[in-house]
Amino acid sequence: MKKLKIMSVFGTRPEAIKMAPLVKEIAAHPGMESLCCLTGQHREMLDSVMEIFRLRGDYDLNIMEQRQTLTTITTKTILGMDRVIEEAKPDMILVHGDTSTTFAGALSAFYHQVPVGHVEAGLRTYDPYSPYPEEMNRVLVSDLAELHFAPTRANAENLRKEAVRGEIFITGNTAIDAMKTTVRDDFQFSTPELNCLDFAARRVIVVTCHRRENYGAPMEHIMHAIRDVAETHSDVEVVYPVHLSPKVRECAFGILGGVPRVHLTDPVNVEEMHNLMARCYMVMTDSGGLQEEAPALGKPVLVMRRETERPEAVAAGTARLAGVEREIVARMAAELLDEPAAYTQMARAVNPYGDGSACARIVGAIAWRFGLTAERPADFQAES
Ligand code: UD1
Ligand code: UDP
Repeated sequence: MKKLKIMSVFGTRPEAIKMAPLVKEIAAHPGMESLCCLTGQHREMLDSVMEIFRLRGDYDLNIMEQRQTLTTITTKTILGMDRVIEEAKPDMILVHGDTSTTFAGALSAFYHQVPVGHVEAGLRTYDPYSPYPEEMNRVLVSDLAELHFAPTRANAENLRKEAVRGEIFITGNTAIDAMKTTVRDDFQFSTPELNCLDFAARRVIVVTCHRRENYGAPMEHIMHAIRDVAETHSDVEVVYPVHLSPKVRECAFGILGGVPRVHLTDPVNVEEMHNLMARCYMVMTDSGGLQEEAPALGKPVLVMRRETERPEAVAAGTARLAGVEREIVARMAAELLDEPAAYTQMARAVNPYGDGSACARIVGAIAWRFGLTAERPADFQAES
């Protein structure tokens, strides 16, 4: 019997991390063939993930430019996808999340009348400029998609309120599936800065920051807040793997370069990152993925953004919205460092985002959609 051709389209680091376990699950299904189309929106950061998960792209549009714009990412992806879809003739295209690759990949699929499955669907802030452009990307993809894989019940509710076309499945987040394979007690770091850290004697704060809406003044405030925290706490080591975006690097190295106890590194590979978080004291970030991973590891997260589309960890008490003002961010971090009760209250492992079986549910849903099984997968239920 002819196998279903399922093409996963992705291009940035977080998409790759969260699609990797799904690509493997599809490949393992006897009725499906898995194809990967990489846009290459990220280059080094994408290649690093592909290497760790031992995956390779069947197609690579290689679109990345230094200081690329939303327009170049979108147009180069759509043009590149035209040829790929015509050649591969997939039965379904899967996209992930809310990047420009996600939007352009889904739009290209629609132009070729290939059904779209949207992984990590239904996250919303309802502010089109925050996160920018991600909120608009995911809203537009919800209109283009036919299968919506919502990580949580709240995400599914958002989609139901919007009366989206097609079927909604609650699957859990595939990030949790990925972490099952990366976090190990005996993990050895290969990045020298991480290898030298004494996690028992020092309190390690993991920092990341990259969002476009934080470029400029908000990012400067964030960097100054990190500096204030390091300068006022002599037992703290800040580990900040700096994103390769030149705008981020100029700001981070400009304000934090040379500050004692602040370790600015290049991006670390995903195994190193997950194990670093597993051993740290707390996380300060504007990243989406870290907001899902840190709670699963029992690490408090300060979210350095004005709002979040991931309210589950805030509701569960393991994440707090710190905003982007220097004094407030620094004060909230100091509270977690100086007040043991505040810290202990947040440092509980809760996992509203998944049980590690999201990929199996997604593949089950695709099989159901194409008549390979009569059984619709049961929804993921978060622990209460
Ligand atoms: C993109 C996504 C964002 C996601 C983030 C994950 C969009 C609009 N933004 O933002 O949603 O949260 O990825 O990290 O889709 N660069 C390199 N090498 C790399 C990666 C990036 O040099 O491997 C540099 C390039 O100069 C590039 C710049 O970073 O032009 C910005 O990359 P881009 O993908 O446009 O934006 P991100 O901030 O990474
Ligand atoms: N990550 C990584 N190395 C790093 C920083 C982050 O592997 O140096 C991982 C992190 O664990 C998470 C993902 O990258 O799985 C998050 O990516 P990012 O913050 O770039 O994007 P977002 O999630 O905000 O879209």
